[in-house]
Amino acid sequence: MPVHLRPAIAALQPYRQGRPAPADSFKLSSNENPFPPVPAVAEAIAASAVTRYPDASAAGLRARLAERFGVTVDEVHVGAGSVSIIQQLADATSGPGDEILYSWRSFEAYPGIVTVAGATSVTVPNRADGAHDLVAMAAAVTERTRLILVCSPNNPTSAVVTKAEFEEFMAAVPDTVLVALDEAYREFVTDPEAVDGAPLLERYPNLVVLRTFSKAYGLAGLRIGYALGPAYVLDACRSTAIPLSVTESAQRAAIAALDHEDDYRAQIAELNARRDRIRDGLRAQGWELPDPQGNFVWLPTGARTADAAEVLTAHGIVARVFPPEGIRVSVGEDESVERLLAAAEEVVRTL
Ligand SMILES: Cc1ncc(COP(=O)(O)O)c(C=O)c1O
Repeated sequence: MPVHLRPAIAALQPYRQGRPAPADSFKLSSNENPFPPVPAVAEAIAASAVTRYPDASAAGLRARLAERFGVTVDEVHVGAGSVSIIQQLADATSGPGDEILYSWRSFEAYPGIVTVAGATSVTVPNRADGAHDLVAMAAAVTERTRLILVCSPNNPTSAVVTKAEFEEFMAAVPDTVLVALDEAYREFVTDPEAVDGAPLLERYPNLVVLRTFSKAYGLAGLRIGYALGPAYVLDACRSTAIPLSVTESAQRAAIAALDHEDDYRAQIAELNARRDRIRDGLRAQGWELPDPQGNFVWLPTGARTADAAEVLTAHGIVARVFPPEGIRVSVGEDESVERLLAAAEEVVRTL
């Protein structure tokens, strides 16, 4: 006889990772930063003492982030990737009978996290332009809603929530419901209308902002992200967190990254220039894609998604495929841009 598992967990699909790329291909399936680590960050990692446990409170990094964002140290929480903080927020706010609301399609980790908490997912479809329908989301709040996940720029559509839309939404949501603004890609945003969570924290007592070092800072492999928000909410996250899961290497690397923000700003500017070249090239080919604001673009290939993915693979582009909706392609190495545009042109011409 098999051992007893929670039926909801046994039925779950494990998290699907972006596909690895064959030798002659570009891995554009996980929205990673293609640049090598900044030397000072590599040095900080090498200098970490791995025989000792890390500082469980991540005091040094929290102090740096508190200073940067003008909040107190208790209003900063650090986790082993921002995805772990999303899980902590779900566990801290929601259990059986409670609802967690989010737009769909969005970050693939959301549904599993809700199920593991024992809560119920309530989803609202994205608008046709790939952005969240925040009006419909506000209307979907019930007395069981405990947590709302708002993702801007949205993974995988790369569309943003505007500041005006977000303010209207926050005015409509009861302040007993926690809103987590997932800004994993915020550093790449160039649209001046887009929401920026950190300055809004003092206005909304039910807001938590999530950011990460995985994307713009190129530390995906070290697993480190953070949340800004009310201290008592982040204390609840700290209570649900697995102790000591944020390594010393990750904490030191993140501090070194903050010490070298200019280097990252230069990388981001280069990646955004590539992103805009891809966007313009695709639009010139006739693609109608949401305005990309993350380090990735969305090809709305619909029913032709599987065939289009094969064309991309043949051109050495390994992307994230969501049949029958579309394909998400990360902005990667400079040489990948022309390959992607050639593949996309072939899709338009042949499918
Ligand atoms: C929208 C969004 N949020 C959060 C994450 C998690 O990032 P990490 O756990 O690496 O900080 C990702 C990663 O792909 C993401 O796309």
